[in-house]
Amino acid sequence: MAASPALPGLFFCFAAMVLLIFVSVSSPTWNKVSFLNVNQLSFGIFGYTGSKVQIGYYFPLPGDINTTTLHNLTSVLILYPIAAGLSGLAFLFGSCGAAYHRAGTVFMSLLAALAMLCTLVAWVVSMSLFGIVKSRLSSDRIDATWGNANWLALGALVALLLGFCTAACGVFGHYKRSRVR
Ligand SMILES: *[C@@H]1O[C@H](CO)[C@@H](O)[C@H](O)[C@H]1NC(C)=O
Repeated sequence: MAASPALPGLFFCFAAMVLLIFVSVSSPTWNKVSFLNVNQLSFGIFGYTGSKVQIGYYFPLPGDINTTTLHNLTSVLILYPIAAGLSGLAFLFGSCGAAYHRAGTVFMSLLAALAMLCTLVAWVVSMSLFGIVKSRLSSDRIDATWGNANWLALGALVALLLGFCTAACGVFGHYKRSRVR
């Protein structure tokens, strides 16, 4: 039997899930993964170096950076772990698609599309949020550098786009009605 038409989508959804899990355990859980680094502080989804894990946080930085607007934007970053969960579900349904039935592949492509939307919104928000913080810091002559999580998230976005396309194409592939494994 030829390889299942669900396999390419399955691969991309798995890759996206792994990347999004890495993004989700960013600072303060794992300080090596961050969106923005300022001096010794690295900023992640649920806080920054030394802070507690929380949904939405205030920037512990001087001047016009500790604002309610930016605080509210950090809450939106919860879309990253949600997208990770959706990619995981897409992978789960895709496995059923690969093993048993076309319906699994249909659900995989729908969930991959949903995860892609979440990741897209989260990525646009995180790039603008930390872009604003970075530019306000540089006008205060404080150096900030981009962290690796931005590229991990971009990779996940591309993986989900490919995952959705390949899964959608996989729906129209050949599925045996019985005796498949
Ligand atoms: C930032 O603002 C919040 C709410 O206005 C306040 O509770 C917090 O102490 C401020 N933090 C700093 C470092 O200024």
